[in-house]
Amino acid sequence: MAHNATSTLLGGLTAREFLRDYWQQKPLLVRGAIPDFEEPITAREVRELAAREEALSRLVVRYGRQWTLEHGPIRARRLAGLMRGNVPWTVLVQDVQHHSYEAHDLLARFNFLSSARIDDLMVSIASKGGGVGPHVDSYDVFLLQGTGRRRWRISRQEDLALAPGLPLKILKRFRAEEEYVLEKGDMLYLPPQVAHHGIAIDECVTWSIGFRAPRFQEVVEFHLDARRDALSIDGQYRDPGILPSVHPGTVSPAMQASLVKAMSDASSAARSRHLMLHDLGCFLTTPKPHVVFDTPESAMTAFAFARAAKTRGVRLTLATRLLRCGKGFFVNGGPLPVRAADADALQRLADTRVLPGAQRGRAPGRIAFGPSLCRTLHEMHATGALELLPPAGEALDE
Ligand code: SIN
Ligand code: CO
Repeated sequence: MAHNATSTLLGGLTAREFLRDYWQQKPLLVRGAIPDFEEPITAREVRELAAREEALSRLVVRYGRQWTLEHGPIRARRLAGLMRGNVPWTVLVQDVQHHSYEAHDLLARFNFLSSARIDDLMVSIASKGGGVGPHVDSYDVFLLQGTGRRRWRISRQEDLALAPGLPLKILKRFRAEEEYVLEKGDMLYLPPQVAHHGIAIDECVTWSIGFRAPRFQEVVEFHLDARRDALSIDGQYRDPGILPSVHPGTVSPAMQASLVKAMSDASSAARSRHLMLHDLGCFLTTPKPHVVFDTPESAMTAFAFARAAKTRGVRLTLATRLLRCGKGFFVNGGPLPVRAADADALQRLADTRVLPGAQRGRAPGRIAFGPSLCRTLHEMHATGALELLPPAGEALDE
């Protein structure tokens, strides 16, 4: 969306107004956020996805005050059994954007926020009465209603005590302050720590766009680990001009000075802003632990790749994270060497995930695909971070 334009997605607010007045501050209910919302995948496809090894799925079933949690894959037979009964259940699949280009397109609607902030697109399907119970999340979330209706109750309560002995984090005492029934295309934005409880009124599908806010502890640990791994310090303590010890039980001032200087030199080298931005870029693009990148079955020569890229164009593969941080680019946890002349093209790839080729017509700002850009893209292709767009005539989302 153009950032100074109002949009239905934000209930007629501009992105600037939404960020100023609601983001990380208070909930916002948006009716008809996505008019005629076409869900990226159907409820049946969600069930099929939940049954796959490579998907991150969970099944939550409620038996009165008792809840059970099963981790995926959730087999079709298990769900078929539940669908015949009448205990409320819900299946949740995380990182749906790793499995469908349409799902990625849904995330792109939120590009008024940096993709460094986006965590994942989760989908849930629930039977009548199903849900995950009242809880709080530590991240911002947009809850976008798909098929069916869901009743959301929310509360600003400070009592966040959890019910004991349950496999899920469910609030012991939940006192709803507001209640909304969401229908297809409606959306509820919740800042972190707002208690919420969603109950399916009918069989329903809910899409959650969740945001990550790294904890300082994890960023600093990552940085210090990276510096330690890169550490190589010459030299060793010596005793030039040493005098006899008066207090042999004390570290001598000369020894203190020499070794503290070694520590201080190493830590001020690690404090270079350039290195910190480097580590931050690596941290923010590190794939989640379960992600695997498929490399091409047969390596393409640089020449064949460049020719195909110019015609067909390229896109990031679904799980790839590409970000610019400071002056550098980072992809999937490591630095990506980019020549200054190619920085605009890489920025566009980081922003939109696609660089269109000649087959897509004379798009404004057409990419020249010069030799050095093609070399960078070819390397990304070899590691599975990037793929060629399908040839003209084939659907983009295969
Ligand atoms: C759900 O879709 O059932 C849960 C989403 C949430 O509460 O964050
Ligand atoms: Co939640």
